[in-house]
Amino acid sequence: MDLDRLIDDPPIVHAGGTHVWALRPEPLGFIWDMVQPGWNTAETGLGVSTAALALKRAHHTCITPSQEEVTRLQEYCAARAIALDRVRFLVAPSQDAVPALPQTELDFVLIDGGHGFPVPFLDWFYLGRRLKVGGLVMIDDTHVWTGKVLVDFLEREPGWTRERSYPRTVVFRMTAPFQARDWSAQPLVAGRSRWSIRWANLALGARLLARGDFSGLWAGMTKRLPKG
Ligand SMILES: C[S@@+](CC[C@H](N)C(=O)[O-])C[C@H]1O[C@@H](n2cnc3c(N)ncnc32)[C@H](O)[C@@H]1O
Repeated sequence: MDLDRLIDDPPIVHAGGTHVWALRPEPLGFIWDMVQPGWNTAETGLGVSTAALALKRAHHTCITPSQEEVTRLQEYCAARAIALDRVRFLVAPSQDAVPALPQTELDFVLIDGGHGFPVPFLDWFYLGRRLKVGGLVMIDDTHVWTGKVLVDFLEREPGWTRERSYPRTVVFRMTAPFQARDWSAQPLVAGRSRWSIRWANLALGARLLARGDFSGLWAGMTKRLPKG
């Protein structure tokens, strides 16, 4: 089966077997062109992307909380002779499954499972640290706030470069070993916190001044602000 046929005849696995909320054709095309047989891949969520990765003969881990979706996809693949021998299904919410995954070096990760806070961030954290240097992570639904924050974060983070952009999907390449830095070394977090930190310090200074607490104020000015 080729990509056009997969897009024309997708597995209808979502919403009780009535819909498929699939990746758009362009990011699916990226997966189709980029992923090589034998790559180690993982995705949160299940759907057309899962069938595409099975067809590409990746060693693939698919994480979804829905056994029904897995059964529908298995039936779809059986009816079309799509081999699933290299696909492993983990039936669990990804926030429970990803911390316990083996330390396999992944070539490609798709984040398209739960979109509520903080699920995409956990997916990125636990699957990203299993990527090999040079590996790719695709983030779908970047119009949802969680996806957008993740993209904005990686955009500024050292060790990640934007590989491809689509209207609702972005692909990053990890160019250095995965690192979880503290907030002050994360350009997005430090940059977005700059003014709120200044305001908080100003407000605290004003409270201390109003109280006549000049030693507290002095400590604050010399960066030893008391809490409260
Ligand atoms: C937008 S669909 C995935 C579409 C798929 N990538 C495709 O191309 O067809 C979202 C999927 O995420 C799954 N999902 C929802 N919450 C999840 C969670 N917490 N962990 C993993 N998967 C989740 C849903 O069951 C559904 O399969």
